[in-house]
Formats: sequence, structure tokens, C-alpha cells
Amino acid sequence: MRALVTGGYGFIGSCLIRTLLKNKDNFVLNVDYMTYAADRANLSVVEKKSNYEHKKIDICEQADVKKIVSDFQPDVIFHLAAESHVDRSIHAADDFIATNINGTYSLLEAMRHYWQESQQREDLKFIHVSTDEVYGSLNKEDAPFDNNTPYAPNSPYSASKAASDHLVRSWYKTYGLPTIITHCSNNYGSHQNKEKLIPNTINCILNNKNIPVYGNGENIRDWIHVQDHVDGLIAVYEQGQVGETYNFGGDTEISNINIVLQIAGILDDKKPSPARTSYVDLIEFVTDRAGHDFRYAIDNSYVNKALNWKPIVDFDIGLNETVDYYLDYLSKGSSS
Ligand SMILES: NC(=O)c1ccc[n+]([C@@H]2O[C@H](COP(=O)([O-])OP(=O)(O)OC[C@H]3O[C@@H](n4cnc5c(N)ncnc54)[C@H](O)[C@@H]3O)[C@@H](O)[C@H]2O)c1
Repeated sequence: MRALVTGGYGFIGSCLIRTLLKNKDNFVLNVDYMTYAADRANLSVVEKKSNYEHKKIDICEQADVKKIVSDFQPDVIFHLAAESHVDRSIHAADDFIATNINGTYSLLEAMRHYWQESQQREDLKFIHVSTDEVYGSLNKEDAPFDNNTPYAPNSPYSASKAASDHLVRSWYKTYGLPTIITHCSNNYGSHQNKEKLIPNTINCILNNKNIPVYGNGENIRDWIHVQDHVDGLIAVYEQGQVGETYNFGGDTEISNINIVLQIAGILDDKKPSPARTSYVDLIEFVTDRAGHDFRYAIDNSYVNKALNWKPIVDFDIGLNETVDYYLDYLSKGSSS
């Protein structure tokens, strides 16, 4: 497979590339502009491989993107490059509108150009990696999101992702471009940026700083291990139907406060505080995020059936391993 991955130095993109390159017959081109969210260390294990290449290109630059797609001649584009942090989108949405919407538009046009050049190759796929946040917020008693859930984005981030989904859908409907959309719940695992809930909690604890928790901490997220998500994306490449949408969840709904308590408990055991107090004491409830969605949850029954996929990483085991990873990573001087 010749795979063009956008955003490959990010959290999920790097896991996808490391996984794809376990098969030496695959060739991966990573198109990543190296924003603050990129980390070269995420791909140190593959950087020297002859079947891996990186191009530092802004996906908003249409001419550059068109050229790179035509030159590389991919079998598949996995589109993950995005501005991904909700809090940043609330503070300043410009980069979200640019990368998530205009960047997706420019990739779609590049793919359309290349698809037409290649006589509309039937086996091409453009896999657009999106989020469950486009569906908005659930109450406790609501059924989980599925393929029939209407879009109702509430944050600038989720609105920009929803807009990009609509562009992707329309390029399929209007031009017949072979696109597929995926939505996934909150990913966790190694190599995630420190700004996100799990690494931030660990980082605060290791630096003896307060752990900020929005509102009363009762907001619920569904958590999926990043490797399960990546395996789902590869299943979409191998078995997914063009024009379809696939939703991936981890079957693990947990409130934010319970995640933080669980991490504090793990670190109380693994690296007790010198003062012999529990890290739970560092928790600080802060003013709630504006427009904070209450709950996300995903019904996996469609992907179970259509792709024979289900999440396999047990959350407690996955979280323990994630804590071990950050203990090692952050102790090497990447804290603060
Ligand atoms: N992290 C999650 O829990 C989650 C859940 C569902 C969906 N998603 C989606 O998955 C994708 C990847 O998420 P992530 O958490 O790995 O993101 P991330 O923030 O860790 O990485 C994003 C990557 O995109 C690159 N990038 C940003 N702007 C770019 C541009 N203009 N041109 C080229 N590269 C650019 C960055 O340099 C970075 O390496 C995103 O599209 C996100 O919306 C993420």
C-alpha cells in the first residue's frame, strides 16, 4: 500500500504510521507542517526506514498539496492533519478554520485532480478522520451516537470538523470521489500532546502542580485506545465502502473526575509523593469550559458487523501502560 498520511507527527497519525510500517511492503509519505502539536520523537523508530518519507507542507497550500499527491500516487490518503484542541479553538478559531476546513478542501481538490489523472482508479480511497464531537452532546439517558445521529457541533473545533465532513461528503456526492468518513471518541495512549486531559494530569502530578478539572468533573467521555482506533482505520481501508461513515468507540464511558482520580491512584502507587500525601489533593475544580458538552458515547454495533472490528484494549491496562509511558517520557526532561 502507498499511503499518504497527513498529520503523521501527531498523536494518532504517528501511531498509524508506526503500525503501517510494520509491514515492509507499505510505503508511507507523511505530510505534516510540524505545528506545535507535532513531535519528531513520535516517529523516531521509523525515521530511517527507506519506505518512509516526510514532507513539511501546509495542507492549506493547494498548489503544494496537488503536486505532492500527483507525484506520490497514493493508493490511500489518511487525512488526520488538524487543529485538535477544543480549548485552543475557543480562545482563537482562525487556525481551526484554516487547517480543518480550507486544508481539507485543498486535499479534496488535490485528490480529485489525481483521481481524474489516473482515469478514476476504482481502488483509491480518501479516508477522512473526524470526531464524535460533531454530533454534539448527550444527556445521561440518551442512546449513544450512531450513523443516524444528526450533526450538532457545539465548539469551534467540532464545528470546523463538521464543516470538513460536509465537504468530504459533497465531493463524494458531486464528483464521485471515493471518500469515507470516520468518527471516533476520545483517544488515549502514548505520544499524545501534554495539553490533553490524561498527559496533562500526569504532568501536573509529576510537577506537583494543581490538576485543573472543569466544572464539577462529571462530564462523560468515551475512551478508546489509540491502537484500537488505528486498527479500525486500517480495517476501513481494507473493507470500508466508499461513501460510508464509520463510528468507532471504546465502550468505556468515564467521567473526567473519575479518570483524574484513577491516574492519581496509579501514581500514588507507582511514584508516591515525597510528602506521603495522595495526589488527589492536587485536584482543583476550575470554571467550566464554555459550551462544554456533557457526554459523548458511540454505538459500535455497525462497525462490529461491517468491519468485524471491536475495541480490544482493556481501559485499566491501557491507562496503566500510558502512565508508564509518560513517567518515562516526562522524566527525560519534557515536563512543565
Ligand atoms: N485525539 C483524539 O482523541 C481524536 C478523536 C477523534 C478524532 N480525532 C481527529 O484525529 C486527527 C488526529 O488527531 P490527533 O489527536 O492525532 O492530533 P494532533 O494535534 O496530535 O496532531 C495533529 C498533527 O497535524 C499537523 N498539522 C496541523 N496543521 C497542519 C497543516 N496545516 N498542515 C499539515 N499538517 C498540519 C500537526 O503538525 C500535528 O502533527 C484529527 O483530525 C482529529 O480531529 C482525534
